[in-house]
Amino acid sequence: MCVSLNYAKDRVLETIPHLGVKFHMTQNQRLEALMAAFRKTTYFRWMAKEGVPVVDGYGIEDVREVATGTWARTGGKAAFLNLYGMEGVTGMYVGEIPAGGALNPEKHFYEEVIVILEGQGATEVWQDGGNKQLFEWGPWSLFAPPLNTWHRLVNGSRTPVKYLSVSNAPLVMDIVHNEDFIFNCPYQFADRYSAAEGYFNQGLKRYESGMQHIWETNFISDIQTASVGAREVKGAGVGITQFEISGNSLIGHLATWPAARYHKAHFHGAGAILLGLQSSGYVLLWSKELGTRPFEAGRGDEVVEVKWKAGSVYCPGGGWFHQHFNTGAEPARHLALRYGSRIHPIGFKIADKRSEDGVYIDIKEGGTLIEYGDEDPYIRKHYDDELQKTGVRSAMPVL
Ligand SMILES: [Fe+2]
Repeated sequence: MCVSLNYAKDRVLETIPHLGVKFHMTQNQRLEALMAAFRKTTYFRWMAKEGVPVVDGYGIEDVREVATGTWARTGGKAAFLNLYGMEGVTGMYVGEIPAGGALNPEKHFYEEVIVILEGQGATEVWQDGGNKQLFEWGPWSLFAPPLNTWHRLVNGSRTPVKYLSVSNAPLVMDIVHNEDFIFNCPYQFADRYSAAEGYFNQGLKRYESGMQHIWETNFISDIQTASVGAREVKGAGVGITQFEISGNSLIGHLATWPAARYHKAHFHGAGAILLGLQSSGYVLLWSKELGTRPFEAGRGDEVVEVKWKAGSVYCPGGGWFHQHFNTGAEPARHLALRYGSRIHPIGFKIADKRSEDGVYIDIKEGGTLIEYGDEDPYIRKHYDDELQKTGVRSAMPVL
């Protein structure tokens, strides 16, 4: 059996038990030690002093329900979401803009991608001395304020706006470790943003690069309905389209797959944040040190199971296999925010996978993907058992 984690809004209720291995740290002790080390970083010290809640965990059941606190910096409310797999390369918070209100203008020397979770409004973007551009958004819109541009989010609805912000603030802050520079750097990145008309229109340029569908766009009006290209190599019926946004290294992709099916397991570097958009199910996560068949090897207790649904976030650690299962009656959809831009590749991301397409390549051939036929037999059995509970009939290919 793997370890199921029940979420609370602000903490993981159940922790991973000791496995009885002598002189072997438990997963939980490891995580505590890891978190203690991370708390010394500039980013963690900055989070702590910003005065809003910091929520830890493998995942959060529904980011829209996390208790937030007033954040003087933005003029709204927020809570930092600190998932174990982020490992200092990505940061995240859930924010709130009061009804009829607006956030303070801000600019920062780190990349950020914003997903609107609830409500409608608009964002203004400008450079010092330049014209303001304004674009409107609604629920499930996604955009990225270009690096070091001023931006101001305005709520145009009578209810609070909730949004999710994912950034590379930890990476940049820990290198620069100077808050004044991060928030008050005068440099204007004209290569990323020159106030070109239509910059925040939804992009039309789509093509393939290697094994990846690419969509160049600085705005997605609705990530729930945006079209996604077929990528069956990741699993039966799977579709994945990567978007390149605002000249960022921090980009993302949308993934879909049918009801009654699941992805193949794979691993990559740390920091990829996943947001559930449609349907529900669970994710299995385990360190690659446990091998491709952790249950068969008697180490199933070290496999973590996280339930997901629309609004859930979770983050596989670097080098951790993860496998997404849909147990709902409808097609599943996820958003991933991560490194791996094909236009602005980042070295550690490529080195980790050995190839840009490593997550699509069979582990037996040097990639990081476990083919269905090679997976631990318990995984299929567990899925069938879980489908029994939801009354959905498996549509998985016969092994
Ligand atoms: Fe992944």
